[in-house]
Amino acid sequence: MKKIGILFGKENTFPQAFIDRVNEKKLKDITAEAVHIDMVQQAKPTDYAVIIDRISQDVPFYRAFLKNAAISGTAVINNPFWWSADEKFFNNALAEKIGVPVPKTVILPSYERPDDTGEESFRNLAMPFGWDKIFSYVGFPAYMKPHDGGGWKSVYKVNDANQLFANHAETQQLVMMLQEEIQFTEYFRCYVLGGNRVHIMQYEPRNPHHERYVLDGPPVDKAILKKVEEYCIKLNQALGYDFNTVEFAIRDGIPYAIDFCNPAPDADIHSVGQENFDWIVENAADLAIEKAKSYQKGKMNLTWGTFIKDQFSNSPTKPETVAKAKTPIAKTAAAKPAAKVQPVAKKAAPSKTEKAEKVKTAEKAAPNAKAKPAAAKKAPAAKKKPAPKK
Ligand SMILES: Nc1ncnc2c1ncn2[C@@H]1O[C@H](COP(=O)(O)OP(=O)(O)OP(=O)(O)O)[C@@H](O)[C@H]1O
Ligand SMILES: [Mg+2]
Repeated sequence: MKKIGILFGKENTFPQAFIDRVNEKKLKDITAEAVHIDMVQQAKPTDYAVIIDRISQDVPFYRAFLKNAAISGTAVINNPFWWSADEKFFNNALAEKIGVPVPKTVILPSYERPDDTGEESFRNLAMPFGWDKIFSYVGFPAYMKPHDGGGWKSVYKVNDANQLFANHAETQQLVMMLQEEIQFTEYFRCYVLGGNRVHIMQYEPRNPHHERYVLDGPPVDKAILKKVEEYCIKLNQALGYDFNTVEFAIRDGIPYAIDFCNPAPDADIHSVGQENFDWIVENAADLAIEKAKSYQKGKMNLTWGTFIKDQFSNSPTKPETVAKAKTPIAKTAAAKPAAKVQPVAKKAAPSKTEKAEKVKTAEKAAPNAKAKPAAAKKAPAAKKKPAPKK
């Protein structure tokens, strides 16, 4: 008998529906249950052929348990090693390398110094930091969000340099990405399972949380949907995620990947709705069953991204081979020149009323973030140190 387990936290609807769906299929030698953990001993295999991980991003003990399970053969969905290494900024870099359009993006040193560091720890950083270069590359409006985060936490829409500095001052030790805003006509959130099962959901991020999955939106150009599907597959095969969501904002008919590092995506029936829920339950069950069938005892049963396999395994000795295999960028929409942006440094300072309005926008874009309108009055850009004292 091969066992499929699901490891989960607070979520209440998806895990049990997944277990029930696998078991309803009444396969002779495959069964599903909630993972049960007792003692975790190094190098000792678990009873599970497959584990779906929905929670190890929040529970480091579980992440360590899963790596130990994986090295003894359990097919963990998603690969816990890759998930530990991955973050949104790297994903953007990877997308650009494989020819999937992404907004222009940079990372910013954290506003506060990390614990146990001092001024000397930052001697490699230019002082003052290259803010003007950054602003003319990214432009405004822009989005500032954690380079390694999710759940719409600390996501800010910023309209100018002052607002950016005011908001950055609230982000403590987070490393933030600053990203060109894609002013979109359509927005999609897509489940991608097993690297090739794609479910595209029209999504309206400007609606309240429970009304974001649009059920009866206007018809969408088939060519756009085809591109979205193609990019979903490309990204997830390169990253090696078995279970992920990818978000795209469409501008001038081009899908820009906005957020594609969601290895435990929301699958709650109350937010995604019945139809999307049914898709995810059915396809997650089928994927887990496939993995259980192909499971080989004691072998490596994890999925690894083609990026790791193709690039890292060849690059030290044969960079030219890699370049040949992986240079589709010029042939794709990514090569399309982006719209020109006005460098902030050349902009006139906004009036007080404009500032107040802009901070409100930041609050709206980031309901979880504690935006402080008063803070917008501070912060002359050029004098800001990237990692001032706490
Ligand atoms: N570059 C951008 N252009 C336009 N809108 C953006 C951009 N970046 C983020 N957004 C908006 O902000 C929202 C949250 O950003 P993002 O999805 O990157 O953060 P998140 O914390 O991973 O969110 P979640 O986990 O809820 O998906 C997006 O759904 C989108 O509406
Ligand atoms: Mg998102």
